[in-house]
Amino acid sequence: LSAILGRSRRYSTLPPTIRQLFAAPVPTDPTEITVNGWIKSVRRQKRMSFAVLADGTTDDGLQAVFSDPTLDLDSLTTGASVRLEGALVGSPGARQDRELQVRSFSVVGQCDPESYPIQRKELSTEFLRTLPHLRTRTQAHAHIIRERDRLMRGFHSYFETNGFYHIHTPALTQNDCEGGGEAFALAAPAPDMFGHPAYLTVSAQLHLEAMAAALPRVYTLSPAFRAESSATSRHLSEFWMLEAELAFADSLEDIMALTEGCVRAVLPKASDTDPSPWPRITYAQAVDALAAAHPQVKFEYEPRHGDPLRSDHERWLAEVWANDRPVFVTSYPAAHKPFYMLPNDDGTDTVACFDLLIPRVGELAGGSLREHRLDRLQDAMKRHGVNERGELEWYLDLRRWGSTPHGGFGLGFERLVAFVTGTESVKECVPFPRWAGRWLM
Ligand code: 4AD
Repeated sequence: LSAILGRSRRYSTLPPTIRQLFAAPVPTDPTEITVNGWIKSVRRQKRMSFAVLADGTTDDGLQAVFSDPTLDLDSLTTGASVRLEGALVGSPGARQDRELQVRSFSVVGQCDPESYPIQRKELSTEFLRTLPHLRTRTQAHAHIIRERDRLMRGFHSYFETNGFYHIHTPALTQNDCEGGGEAFALAAPAPDMFGHPAYLTVSAQLHLEAMAAALPRVYTLSPAFRAESSATSRHLSEFWMLEAELAFADSLEDIMALTEGCVRAVLPKASDTDPSPWPRITYAQAVDALAAAHPQVKFEYEPRHGDPLRSDHERWLAEVWANDRPVFVTSYPAAHKPFYMLPNDDGTDTVACFDLLIPRVGELAGGSLREHRLDRLQDAMKRHGVNERGELEWYLDLRRWGSTPHGGFGLGFERLVAFVTGTESVKECVPFPRWAGRWLM
């Protein structure tokens, strides 16, 4: 402990967080400390009083013991922000191994127990959604937000180790990359950017492709915006997407191995015990498996070749067919997919793409090889009605000079956070959710 305290004194003027206090061994001798936090609960007894202090950095609170009868504890109410000073000692209690014997304290910000909405009683997810600015004060939501941070750092570390560069891509664009008609157009007073239509980006992919033609391995973790009307547990209007792009990749397996590698690198060890690669099946095989399970399994829509996979189909493939493991579904019909995907050359009218499906969530990521041949890309753009105003001439330039076979993927970050934390909806997996036109702050 003194090592941690010494460190935090040397490099920072701040007292340790509760996580830092718990990371050190239980002190053998009483150690004088200062600690900041919020009161979670107070228990008054005749000779002594107890409070639990939390600061969001761990699930556990620090037990604070008040045995000095001259201390006036009236202002110690749930939610009050306080600074405590005293001795950290080993604790005989059953629920904690250390406690703070408080010598003095100050209330930094009072909290009126009558009006404060985040009391200790069970609060419903729906109720907390109406208080996005307060809900992270609950232990459960602070846990999700910390897990989000851990996953982000895990990805950065994985990609750095594997020779990738993190790229900042623009939020304002002139095109709808996915062609899904879901781009938010900017409204007055800037309806267009100096004569060009302006949209919020739906995907960084096209810009990453430009970067991958210069630095061969690139990725970004950045916001994407989609004007989706679907208010499901997996859709947000503003979400964060991890996207990677790899030059000199001529096999879809290169992209799937990269996707699997980075997800496995950040999954908690306990949830990823099977070392064998996640299964890969084609869309046609997946529809066959779904059709064979139907109608014993009651899917909302009958599985049919040529139709998109529905979310209950996707979950069944991961939970039942793949035995509760992630599964890659490859080679979807070209008709479902955007203009940039590389066609398979086996005469099946499918493209070299995949969706990664995971239990409980369904689609986590999608990726593909990209069409890297100039003439074929020009044909595909014509067929899809893309680049009619010449807004993607720069994208064609990438194929004019020094083109390489390449590909990449995009992963919905909130969906991964939901999976890892066992959270029902992505709305809890971002601090301030925006969905289907609804947001409060
Ligand atoms: O499948 P999508 O639309 O793929 C792309 O945008 C590609 N350009 C990515 C690439 O290859 N660089 O989106 C990728 C992932 C989906 O699998 C899903 O997990 C997530 O992004 N996603 C959403 N997450 C939350 N809310 C939404 N509205 C989402 N739309 C897609």
